[in-house]
Amino acid sequence: MAMISPSILSADFGNLEHEIRTLPGESVDYLHLDIMDGHFVPDITFGFPVVQRISKLTGIPLDIHLMVTNPEDQVERFLILKPAILTFHLEAATHPERLCRRIREGGSLAGVALNPATPWDGLKYISEAVDLVLVMTVNPGFGGQKFMTSVLEKIREIKNFTGSGRQMLLEVDGGINDKTAPLAIGAGANLLVAGNYIFSAKDRTDAIKRICEPEKRP
Ligand code: DX5
Ligand code: ZN
Repeated sequence: MAMISPSILSADFGNLEHEIRTLPGESVDYLHLDIMDGHFVPDITFGFPVVQRISKLTGIPLDIHLMVTNPEDQVERFLILKPAILTFHLEAATHPERLCRRIREGGSLAGVALNPATPWDGLKYISEAVDLVLVMTVNPGFGGQKFMTSVLEKIREIKNFTGSGRQMLLEVDGGINDKTAPLAIGAGANLLVAGNYIFSAKDRTDAIKRICEPEKRP
């Protein structure tokens, strides 16, 4: 069964506390927080003070996705909050191996995210330092976009590479719903981010079940 990390990007920001507190905590593995800086992606979301507040509101382990340029300037601050996962974009980092090691030292799992057009093979050389690969299945920056099936091949290749060695988390982010989750899981993903599908559902618990356990769907 795949793990799930609901992305609050599609939650009601005017009522964030309620949105987070009413998530079925027992059915989710992480809480996905998209930090956007208006440079790496067009929008600006929220930063450290909001994440700090969220970390006090919930016991759900935090999965922080930095969509920022110069991620090395941000990791120290977020490490203070002891997120379970801290992910930065390979495209934005000058020394990704060093940054991964720093994140691990800080007590979080070190994640490296890849945009759809970014090849994964550079990770071969630094895989010892990487705990998680986040494969973007949309161009980053917005919720509610269409899943790019062309990226499935990359997920399969990463899965084949990691399959023989150390267990690595393989997270997919973008356009995950009850139709696309089985495709991502079939290709090797074991952690699914979903924003729009969960937060626009009438029954969020049911929506989570439908994407995590596709084999149990009617
Ligand atoms: C997009 C973000 C995602 C976003 C996914 O750039 O990184 O985490 O919230 O949203 P959905 O599931 O709606 O595609
Ligand atoms: Zn994300």
